[in-house]
Amino acid sequence: MSFKLAFIGFGRVGQSLAGLLNRKRNELKERYDLEPTVVGVSDIQLGSVMDPEGLDLPRLLQHARREGSLRGISAPEKGLSSLDTIRRSSADLVIEVTWSNLADAEPGLSHIRTALKKGCHVVTSNKGPIALKLRELQGLADGNGVQLGFEGTVLSGTPAIRLGREALLGGEILSIEGILNGTTNYILSEMERDVSYEEALEEAKRLGYAEADPTADVEAWDPTAKIVILANALMDCDLRIGDVEREGITGLSKDDLMKAIKQDRRVRLVARAVRTRDGVRASCKPEEIPLTSLLANIHGVTNAVVFGTDVQDEVALIGPGAGPQSAGYALLTDLIAIGRSMKR
Ligand SMILES: NC(=O)c1ccc[n+]([C@@H]2O[C@H](COP(=O)([O-])OP(=O)(O)OC[C@H]3O[C@@H](n4cnc5c(N)ncnc54)[C@H](OP(=O)(O)O)[C@@H]3O)[C@@H](O)[C@H]2O)c1
Repeated sequence: MSFKLAFIGFGRVGQSLAGLLNRKRNELKERYDLEPTVVGVSDIQLGSVMDPEGLDLPRLLQHARREGSLRGISAPEKGLSSLDTIRRSSADLVIEVTWSNLADAEPGLSHIRTALKKGCHVVTSNKGPIALKLRELQGLADGNGVQLGFEGTVLSGTPAIRLGREALLGGEILSIEGILNGTTNYILSEMERDVSYEEALEEAKRLGYAEADPTADVEAWDPTAKIVILANALMDCDLRIGDVEREGITGLSKDDLMKAIKQDRRVRLVARAVRTRDGVRASCKPEEIPLTSLLANIHGVTNAVVFGTDVQDEVALIGPGAGPQSAGYALLTDLIAIGRSMKR
């Protein structure tokens, strides 16, 4: 089955998915009967190209990686804006992978709204629109008979959303707790080894785990957005980022962490959502948790999430929580899931 795709944003994650589509071309056809064709790419930095007959994927990647531009590719339409690419392309599915903006979710929100209203499926790893507007976007998708995949917004390629939505069928999720940010977990793990916060942060930057401006991680905005996404997607609520009790890790010293260890406890930045009589309550803050608990044994950049349901106590998932490869893989899983459902 042919399946036309348009990339909106073609940075690290977009190129990682494109690489996977290229590498797994035969597998996608043989195992899933899917033959994806890229009909448009629009990226502020690299430029825009559109061809209803399909663009050559290896060539797109080569131009993006080696030349840092798609402008040398010949195509019937070039230079369109992201919104015009969505409006005018023949894509069945739009891959939205522009930057995450937790203030007003733009430009991703407009991209996703436009695509869904046009009747295109959307897959995204962009946290902004999903953390801020999931209910509206899901309504748009349902109303237009298309699907919205956002597995990559939480735990990247480690399938937290799909586990909660599909594998735990028939159970009601009563609680979600997790380590949802690898950068801060790395910093806390290092501080336990007698490294100062500043040194651990510098090392995290050097290793590419932390951004030059680490505020979104160390002030816990990123894992707060992720617990909002998990709660809203899996616990049937409509939390806002401001509803979450949030505290970052900047106030912690290595002495705080060492003191906790002496008491058989460990400090972790825990994101939590719990169903109460008054609705779902969420927090994301440093907590001292027993050394015997699963989350206390998650070290470095690894992420983990534990679901509590009404039928069984704890179901846990551990895996990579970031990295373009992992996020690209999450998009691939959404894309395959949508492709398979289109054939039913
Ligand atoms: N990298 C990861 O490990 C990871 C993991 C999970 C989720 N994510 C999320 O996935 C998304 C993509 O991440 P990434 O690492 O690929 O980011 P990236 O490398 O910065 O790529 C994003 C690309 O989108 C372009 N862009 C921004 N606004 C645009 C617009 N209006 N129209 C067209 N292109 C636009 C950017 O151009 P400019 O550079 O010129 O702005 C950039 O080339 C983000 O939302 C991120 O939070 C990333």
